[in-house]
Amino acid sequence: MYRIGQEEIAELTRVIESRNMFKINSGLQESRRVEEGLCELFGAKHSIYLTSGHAALVAGLVALGIGPGDEVIVPAYTYISTAMAVVEAGAMPVIAEVDETLTLSPEDVRKKITPHTKAMIPVHIQGFPCNMDALMEIARENNIAVLEDACQADGGAYKGKRLGTIGNAGALSFNYFKIISAGEGGALLTDDRKLFERALIYHDAGAIAFFGDQMSGFETEGFCGSEYRSNELCAAVMRIQLTRLDGILADLRKNKRYLMEGVADLAQFVPSNDLEGDCGTTLAFRFESEEKARAFATAPGVGGTLPIDTGRHVYTNWEPIMKKRGACHPAMDPFKMEANRDIVPDYRADMCPETLDLLARSVYVGVNPDHGARELQEKIAALRSALQSL
Ligand SMILES: Cc1ncc(COP(=O)(O)O)c(C=O)c1O
Repeated sequence: MYRIGQEEIAELTRVIESRNMFKINSGLQESRRVEEGLCELFGAKHSIYLTSGHAALVAGLVALGIGPGDEVIVPAYTYISTAMAVVEAGAMPVIAEVDETLTLSPEDVRKKITPHTKAMIPVHIQGFPCNMDALMEIARENNIAVLEDACQADGGAYKGKRLGTIGNAGALSFNYFKIISAGEGGALLTDDRKLFERALIYHDAGAIAFFGDQMSGFETEGFCGSEYRSNELCAAVMRIQLTRLDGILADLRKNKRYLMEGVADLAQFVPSNDLEGDCGTTLAFRFESEEKARAFATAPGVGGTLPIDTGRHVYTNWEPIMKKRGACHPAMDPFKMEANRDIVPDYRADMCPETLDLLARSVYVGVNPDHGARELQEKIAALRSALQSL
């Protein structure tokens, strides 16, 4: 979260004073207005505002008809939530390598496809757009669905189209660490009416049955789902956050470009599938060895992080997945279900060596959209001195 202030406080106050805090049936319709705003800003036909990015991923998978007996390809480098969402839907996450852009490798996706593959989840990690042209082509050729995980890339784009609107559906997150935030929150975007109906029912199965007319005109019959409904307080904050999104992205991109230009003669950057659409949150460097990467990251004034050190973003640290503990109740555990018997993956710590190598030789430096010329010059001086000393 980069910017928040008086406008959010004023909207929050208004909702509290109205005492209309429930999403459905309130006179305020804050959540519906967030959904309308998302459709307009992202160019999506349908959107659902819900409690989290994880909820959006699960609702998207359920809506795609994913369940036991299905394989879903996920990248080896993503937050654990991506893989857990697949398990929550009852399916098996198949872990694939990322390529030098640190996003899902089209080449490895091709290798991981089997007759059981029903979907893939490209993750636009750190706001870096995936190679969507290549991934969409593979999806079309093999008749598999694409659910984009744009949880770390709110508002980013690939070849002029917003991330999350290229595949069959896309998930956004608004938790505290994301580009825009109401503390927690998420959204599902889709142009597909059937997916929208199923995801809407799934994310709010109880309340839809009791309140409002949200299902009028639906062709999908109601089914038991979950309660991933958000609330009017968070929605009030999100409405303002949405108005800030493009301004934040413009400043992030401007400052990232400035920093890149300032060190371009000395640095090797992590390549991008679309630098224009990249969210600009992260300046990413590539080194020939982990030793050099660590020396650079810890040099004075750099403040760098190696993605290999980012805990549950690296598949080797996805303990419940790697140990195949898919649920509390054994009969509900997809790793033990009869329908998955022949497709339970053989997860091993060394199964994605290219990903581990790339993550250990990359360094992230955060970009601040509010930094001006002086701070940027200071940062460039520190980066240059660290690069020269390697
Ligand atoms: C790539 C990715 N996917 C999914 C999620 C889940 O989002 P949330 O925390 O809103 O459930 C996150 C959150 O950090 C994420 O980074």
